[in-house]
Amino acid sequence: MRVYLTRELPGDLLDRIRGVADLRMWDGDEPVPRDVLLAEVAGADALCSMLTDTIDAELLDRAPDLRLISQMSVGIDNIDVAACQARGIRVGHTPDVLTDTVADHAFGLMLAAAHRFAEGWQEVEEGRWGSWDPWHMLGVDVHHTTLGIVGMGRVGSAVARRAAGFDMTIVYTSPRASGASGSRLPFAELLRSSDHVVITAPLNEQTRGMFDQEAFASMKSSATLVNVARGPLVDHDALFRALADGQIFAAALDVTDPEPLPATHPLAGLRNCLIVPHTGSATERTRHAMAVRAVDNLVAWVEGREMPSEVHGGA
Ligand code: GLV
Repeated sequence: MRVYLTRELPGDLLDRIRGVADLRMWDGDEPVPRDVLLAEVAGADALCSMLTDTIDAELLDRAPDLRLISQMSVGIDNIDVAACQARGIRVGHTPDVLTDTVADHAFGLMLAAAHRFAEGWQEVEEGRWGSWDPWHMLGVDVHHTTLGIVGMGRVGSAVARRAAGFDMTIVYTSPRASGASGSRLPFAELLRSSDHVVITAPLNEQTRGMFDQEAFASMKSSATLVNVARGPLVDHDALFRALADGQIFAAALDVTDPEPLPATHPLAGLRNCLIVPHTGSATERTRHAMAVRAVDNLVAWVEGREMPSEVHGGA
């Protein structure tokens, strides 16, 4: 059994893989270069991947023996799952173990956007803190407002649980009816009625670019937008215009398009746009749990057992 791993993992997990397979690994600090990945998959039965690796038909065509992709993330939009399924390649990922951490992150970003944390810190850091002014740097409330959750899956539901503690009213969109508390609304209605909008939906052909000019035009001018899902759900030019023209109050983005977002990008220069570098699940405990789940999936597959987290549908 030959496994190719695209990023170094803690030593105990490498030992677990070596206990069941021959392991080759990319150990650089940047994602594995495409040409290296294409060469390595040619001789691999299983690939342990990251969300920065594009796993498309071209790659699969170069990998005649590949039977498993075990990815260390919950999002799998970098993987052409239909092409994998057509070739009998199974796919594992790491849901559940990161749900609460990403929900904490989303909630923190919403509070930061509403209370203008980044802008306040900038003012202090740059020595611009003047005397206390009752009308200076006013934000918008989070408590007792309406939270719109776009994508009421695991993370969306965990955000909703946190919102209950802030006495928020929950509205949400979801392709399927969900057991979640709150009201399921059409997207346009959610945008009109929400004071804060949090995006937790997966990226797919239905969700790509759904936050466009029309979407921003229908949001409240006091609304905030948080994205902890994937950058391409949001049209960044439309978001820039909405923030610059005061169509919405503020945004906080964990994910962007592209990633990394160049510091020269117009969004990076806006005072009402806070951007963090895709760190939604980045706590010591959660990133370790994700790595463990990816290796659990891999080892279970090698040993012919059911994988703890196999992808059965599309992305
Ligand atoms: C992170 O973005 C993930 O999908 O796990």
